[in-house]
Amino acid sequence: MTTTVDRDTGVCRRESVAAATDGRKIACDARCPSVRSGPVTEEWLDVNRANWDDRARVHAVSEFYDLAGFRAGSSSLRPFEVAEVGDVTGRTLLHLQCHMGDDTLSWARRGARVTGLDFSPTAVETARELAADTGLADRARFVVSDVYSAREALSGERFDVVYTGIGALVWLPDLTRWARVVADLLVDGGFLYLAEFHPLAELLGEDGRTLRHDYFHTDAQTWDEPHTYTDGPQLTSTRSVQWQHPLGEVVTALAAAGLHLDFLREHEHTLFRRYPVLESTGTGEYRFPPGHPRLPQMYSLRATKPGGPG
Ligand SMILES: C[S@@+](CC[C@H](N)C(=O)[O-])C[C@H]1O[C@@H](n2cnc3c(N)ncnc32)[C@H](O)[C@@H]1O
Repeated sequence: MTTTVDRDTGVCRRESVAAATDGRKIACDARCPSVRSGPVTEEWLDVNRANWDDRARVHAVSEFYDLAGFRAGSSSLRPFEVAEVGDVTGRTLLHLQCHMGDDTLSWARRGARVTGLDFSPTAVETARELAADTGLADRARFVVSDVYSAREALSGERFDVVYTGIGALVWLPDLTRWARVVADLLVDGGFLYLAEFHPLAELLGEDGRTLRHDYFHTDAQTWDEPHTYTDGPQLTSTRSVQWQHPLGEVVTALAAAGLHLDFLREHEHTLFRRYPVLESTGTGEYRFPPGHPRLPQMYSLRATKPGGPG
């Protein structure tokens, strides 16, 4: 993967696809050392929606997302998520930024009554088709909405579990506002489960050893990428706006929204070859080789809304 930065505009461009080699789902993007930064502009939502509509068209027929495999019965959830969320039988689960709904519907296959929400009409259309094709439509629905408008889009409904992550938070400019939305969407005693790529894993250069990027760089970053992260043709809406969020910002936003942190786990594996040095375990995980200094590459947390029975 080659990354170049336009010196005049500061816009980042990547020249090749950074897809996983084993067919497992990966992150949205690796970081660029010097993308254009600045204050959040009002156009970011439209820019990102156009970019995601375009990506969703490509993703729906990609080998990478393998929706045929999902239709045939596979689960797209990662084993650590299933273990950490626990039994969802009979519970209501809201998936924020659900993309094409395969993760959402995997929770339905485990017994939850699910709602997926995403701002891309194209992604939601695919999710609805997937629900119908897999016979899960009676316990799954999909809603088109920006995350920040989710309360209104769901008419004040509340859920036992709010699930999100795997490349979700980089698309949101304001986590304090996001956490308030999440808290409002939970029943008393309900919990948020978030599994994300660790912000520390974005800091190294391509050698996987040298510190190259700034952990505290939280300004908007404008990207211009011809490809999405899967196999498939070039995009036409290539620009996007993204934000990096330090771990302390995530946890502090949840605390400010009144949620109680049950656990925060840092994982040494990631889901794609983020650095050439990473080795595949053959089970969809990538780790630093023995003897190589390790960084956390993912994290997961559960945060509960106080109250509820008991
Ligand atoms: C990488 S996907 C993450 C979803 C899921 N983890 C996956 O891997 O399929 C990011 C999703 O966030 C959605 N998204 C980005 N910004 C959003 C926003 N402001 N409101 C709602 N959805 C948004 C995109 O449409 C996309 O489907």
